[in-house]
Amino acid sequence: MIKDIFQQNENVHSNDKQLAVLREHFPACFKKDGSFDIELFKEAIVDKTNVVQEGYELKFLGKGYAKLLASTDTTTVVQPNEAHNSLQENVNSENIYISGDNLDGLKHLLKSYHRSVKCIYIDPPYNTGSDGFVYQDNFNYTKEILQEKLSVSEDEAQRILDITKRGSASHSAWLMFTYSRLLLAKDLLTDNGVVFISIDDNEQANLKLLCDDVFGEENFLGQIIHNKLNSKNDTINIQKNHDYVTCYQRKVNYNSASQITPSLESKASVTKEVFKEGDHFYIINDSITTRGDGGTLNNRRNLGYTVYYNPTTKDFVGVQDYDLELAKISNDEDEVYSDNVELLNKGYTKIRPPKVRGQLGAWTWELKNFNDCKDEILIKQNKNGYSVKKRTFIPSETISMEDNRYFTTYEYIKNVRSIAEFSTNEGTTQLSETLGVDGVFNNPKNINLIQYLIGLADCKHSIVLDFFSGSASTAHGVMQINAKDGGNRKFISVQLPEVLSADNTSQKVAYEFLQENSLPKTLDYIGIERIKRAAAKIEEEYPGKQLDLGFKHYVLVEPNQNTLDRLESFDKAGLLADTTVLNDFGKPTILTTWLNADGYGLTVQAEAIDLNGYIAYFINKHLYLIDAGFRLENMKALIQRYDTEGNFNPENLVLFGYSFPDWSINEMIEKNLRILNDSEKNLKINFSVRY
Ligand SMILES: C[S@@+](CC[C@H](N)C(=O)[O-])C[C@H]1O[C@@H](n2cnc3c(N)ncnc32)[C@H](O)[C@@H]1O
Repeated sequence: MIKDIFQQNENVHSNDKQLAVLREHFPACFKKDGSFDIELFKEAIVDKTNVVQEGYELKFLGKGYAKLLASTDTTTVVQPNEAHNSLQENVNSENIYISGDNLDGLKHLLKSYHRSVKCIYIDPPYNTGSDGFVYQDNFNYTKEILQEKLSVSEDEAQRILDITKRGSASHSAWLMFTYSRLLLAKDLLTDNGVVFISIDDNEQANLKLLCDDVFGEENFLGQIIHNKLNSKNDTINIQKNHDYVTCYQRKVNYNSASQITPSLESKASVTKEVFKEGDHFYIINDSITTRGDGGTLNNRRNLGYTVYYNPTTKDFVGVQDYDLELAKISNDEDEVYSDNVELLNKGYTKIRPPKVRGQLGAWTWELKNFNDCKDEILIKQNKNGYSVKKRTFIPSETISMEDNRYFTTYEYIKNVRSIAEFSTNEGTTQLSETLGVDGVFNNPKNINLIQYLIGLADCKHSIVLDFFSGSASTAHGVMQINAKDGGNRKFISVQLPEVLSADNTSQKVAYEFLQENSLPKTLDYIGIERIKRAAAKIEEEYPGKQLDLGFKHYVLVEPNQNTLDRLESFDKAGLLADTTVLNDFGKPTILTTWLNADGYGLTVQAEAIDLNGYIAYFINKHLYLIDAGFRLENMKALIQRYDTEGNFNPENLVLFGYSFPDWSINEMIEKNLRILNDSEKNLKINFSVRY
């Protein structure tokens, strides 16, 4: 499990991921020794593609290193917080909170949530110089290994190590940090999935180029300028009242079932009064008259007819009774229009398009359309004369009644604007009100901004991921928007458990808050506590509403040195099981890590099954044997299950190697599985041992 991963990681190079994709689709471009032949590749694609000779790309120190970090597997395990997860409000929850480094978090998530996330919102450190961003890591690469793996000079390898070992807040360090994470995050997105990244001027330009590299320039949806509505005073430079939200989609205009789906949708809902005519219900829309500068009769000369309306019979008709040539030069209604005396004599009154900015106006409907669709036209008298409006008939099921009046509420799609206004002070107030104390976390995002972005991605029943969770405003926003619109979105939040100190002025309030509430003094517990308190408030505001307001909590744990030593010294060919390794990790951790690694997700439970006194863990296609002490009588009980229980067909038998050192037991299992494979059930059972 971990030892296997250490061994795999040793053989990883920075471009392995990209080469694996090429190998899958262009096997003929690889030579016998596994090396890639770029000339063959060019030949393979040249017919359809213009191979661009002129190079253009974002280069920075450590770019290859970031790719290497994204290519290696995590050596952490996933420890469930069992006390928390078994509470009534959490036991069936599919929301997830992960305490750990997001590089590891994303790698774990990819094993089960690959291409499953519809919306990612992140608010990474902006690298302002005062936000505490410093890139540093503890991967134990030597200069020589980096030279070999990244194909870089000794000097470059040394400069990378200088950053990663001593820590740096340079642009290269920030890019290195962000690139590895975005490379991983991209593969979590569904094809029509969207990523929103908050950023400010410190790294905005770099982030744009970095995202072009990761997601492809053609998948850039745009950049929202977020007006923070703050009153920051900068007397020297241009005062900055905004930051940005950079938006990309995994594949723009992803074609699902031959239907082009819009990338982002800004939805708004509106409640309108409904009117009745006979058995039919309708709502009244806007007037069918032009408004803007382009809407004058001079500009729209075929749209200036007169509507003759009979107030007694309610009959009406549109009549073309104006001079097109005069409309070009005159602004005088009496000059341009000639009255239809016959209709006026019959009691009709004339209605002409209202003026637009002092000039003769026009209708928005052509005359033929107007006279053909009279049902959809509503003429009403008002204090200025008459208004001519469109009405829309609606089905009776959509109507509710209040005080003897009818109403309907519906959603409509608006264009997404590139400027959005959400006050940052409001974000601070939201957090203070939720936690009951001010100043626990600096600059939390306004949850209305987050709800707005989630709404754009139209993900009412999907996963929303934030791997820079901070004070958990995204989790809060997801619960809140679900409560409002009846959605069933799930959140996944990842936050580094930064250790807080009472001596650090910027952490003092958070530290004291955690102390007062008897919580661990790490930053992830601010987010955890916020989610709990926000959930309680939402429950109060929406009593009885079916909402997932719980969450499962997992901690990513790096095995300690003792465990690593034991893994190293374990004798695979020995006879004795090493139960200390099992105890070090804990069975729930091994099970959770494996279930997730095998694609079942983090929130499922395996069923404990009794095989004549030996407890194994079963889920769908997998059976896990974790404890030591598996014997022939347990194997017989297992075979009996395969033989007699129709729904019991796990195709993969997975053993925890440290509990199964005795090759004779493993041989016994393999032999019996072979017999089962040949049996009537036509089973194909794979057998693997994980270390
Ligand atoms: C700008 S804050 C996010 C604030 C958040 N949007 C909110 O409204 O509260 C960035 C957060 O990312 C966290 N962070 C930084 N590096 C991280 C890492 N490698 N893994 C997980 N979280 C990380 C920081 O601790 C910080 O809480």
